[in-house]
Amino acid sequence: MSIEPFDVVDLIRTKRDKGVLSTAQINWMVDAYTRGYIADEQMSAMTMAIFLNGMQRDEIRDLTLAMVASGSRLDFSGLGKVTTDKHSTGGVGDKITLPLAPLVASFGVAVPQLSGRGLGHTGGTLDKLESIPGWRASITVDEMMQQLKDVGGVVCAAGSGLAPADGKLYALRDITGTVECIPLIASSIMSKKIAEGTGALVLDVKFGSGAFLKDIELSRELAQVMVRLGEDAGVATRAVLTNMNVPLGLAIGNANEVRESVEVLAGGGPADVVALTVELARHMLDLVGLGDADVEGALQNGQAMDAWRGMITAQGGDVDAALPVARETHTVVAEADGVLVEQHALPFGIAAWRLGAGRARKEDPVDHAAGIDLHAKPGDSVVKGQHLFTMHTNDAARFDRALEALEGGYRIGAAGDDVHTGGPLIAGVVD
Ligand code: URA
Repeated sequence: MSIEPFDVVDLIRTKRDKGVLSTAQINWMVDAYTRGYIADEQMSAMTMAIFLNGMQRDEIRDLTLAMVASGSRLDFSGLGKVTTDKHSTGGVGDKITLPLAPLVASFGVAVPQLSGRGLGHTGGTLDKLESIPGWRASITVDEMMQQLKDVGGVVCAAGSGLAPADGKLYALRDITGTVECIPLIASSIMSKKIAEGTGALVLDVKFGSGAFLKDIELSRELAQVMVRLGEDAGVATRAVLTNMNVPLGLAIGNANEVRESVEVLAGGGPADVVALTVELARHMLDLVGLGDADVEGALQNGQAMDAWRGMITAQGGDVDAALPVARETHTVVAEADGVLVEQHALPFGIAAWRLGAGRARKEDPVDHAAGIDLHAKPGDSVVKGQHLFTMHTNDAARFDRALEALEGGYRIGAAGDDVHTGGPLIAGVVD
């Protein structure tokens, strides 16, 4: 039996007492936890100590690289195309990957989007795409490489081989109240993206009621830490700070978000979804030397739609098949004339989740037809009886709990009242 070089209790005490861990200690800790030598209760104490006392820049870099080293890394150097990817910290109605990946791929670059499933009130990209009949999230690395060569874009499940230490640590953080911590979020996200092997990366870092970090200054700090981690690892990285106080677009769910994304690819769709898709596409292309690409034109002339059809078809999806529709609907109407002055992302995200669009545990199934269609956005004038939003589910017993989540989640005021959106959609760029 080999002798372990450190004692985990010493490391926990160091962090508890606001000390700094060395590279060797962090490398050992991540490896020993991944192979099961360090117990979950010890790692829980460590993550709580990190949560409370933070980490220095070098420690965050070491933690990230140790998590990368815990698994395999993809290598796109033989692809013959540059790679550029996007990662969002998660939001309500955030379907941007769906129009964005084919839009960017339509300019001849490769977009390898390894994605996760949704947990809690923010939906997962794979869950949304799985509402397309036949579409497969799990493909082999060879299939992925071929698809990147042939059609340019791939959205697929990140296999358990990439940064397995993060998978284990994230599950532990989820049940120990240690998710909302900048060093841990930054190392978690960036270890997966560095292991994925993309050459360029645009981070959509959300702030506001529907985001992980509510406060814009904390989101800016997270963005700065992640950009540095990416650059240090040789990935051209940029972050865009975006507002998640109000749901994105008009659809919150799975199948309905696919429908809205297809509208964007057809040159239409809600203005906020189009604006964010275009902004992120510009940054992704700029990082690989295509800053003057006509991104808006590609949404209007069918170029992005062709790439979408290629991407979905390559993974077995039937692009022309009908998407699932829920058996039960419930529409909420305006109780008075006025202006919709509040529509908060978090209650709408929770309500969609309670309707069945999201899952409480990793192994739960999602109801692809469940969700909410908004019929008005903040600032819109409404008249008494006008439809404000429609809830969809296959289980009518879920409506009451969804409506409970929405209490105080929206408000109709008088013309001239302040409209609460929390500021512009795009609040800044960090690079
Ligand atoms: N997403 C991740 O992948 N990790 C986190 O810690 C938070 C969001």
